[in-house]
Amino acid sequence: MTRILGISGSLRKASFNSGLLRAAAGVMPEGAELDARGIEGVPLFDADVEADEGVPPAVAALKDALAACDGLLLVSPEYNNGIPGVFKNAIDWMSRPPGGTGLFKGKPVAVIGASPGGFGTILSQAHWLPVLRTLGTRQWAEGRLMVSRAGNMFDAQGNLTDEETRKRLSEFLAGFVAFARG
Ligand code: FNR
Repeated sequence: MTRILGISGSLRKASFNSGLLRAAAGVMPEGAELDARGIEGVPLFDADVEADEGVPPAVAALKDALAACDGLLLVSPEYNNGIPGVFKNAIDWMSRPPGGTGLFKGKPVAVIGASPGGFGTILSQAHWLPVLRTLGTRQWAEGRLMVSRAGNMFDAQGNLTDEETRKRLSEFLAGFVAFARG
């Protein structure tokens, strides 16, 4: 079984990106499973908190899931043409000891995202590249999934309703899982 850890970088209840991640769980290729997670409960990174209290429980759970997975799928919103701070904050926590960047090293990674605009998170996806380079991950770049006009693709609860997008998601995941299997 190939295990993919998927993390949505939005805290919003009806998030398009969390909805995209839920939809991904339904179209995983055979022999692969998705461990879909969020960043709820991850505090703002503070080195004093880290020194005094260690790794927060929400971060420890994400780190354990990262250690156990064969590939990492980041489902990233775009804020001001970049990575949302809350998502970067969660990854920053995960990159700290124990394990540190070693948990990410060599890990197959793909980034997808959804936004109401016309460019579907293209700039935040590009913004992740120097971060992933620093973490030493293996980025999968053959496929691309940018869900634009998300207001028309998801219902009011953030569930994906557009079948063409589901098909694109399924094809994307087939490619990424094949890459993660090496
Ligand atoms: C946005 N949004 C946005 N969208 C986009 O495509 N490009 C952008 O640069 C921005 N900038 C931006 C800044 C800030 C501060 C906010 C709050 C929002 C809109 C964003 O894509 C929209 O709120 C999505 O719904 C966020 O994703 P979730 O929460 O639905 O997953």
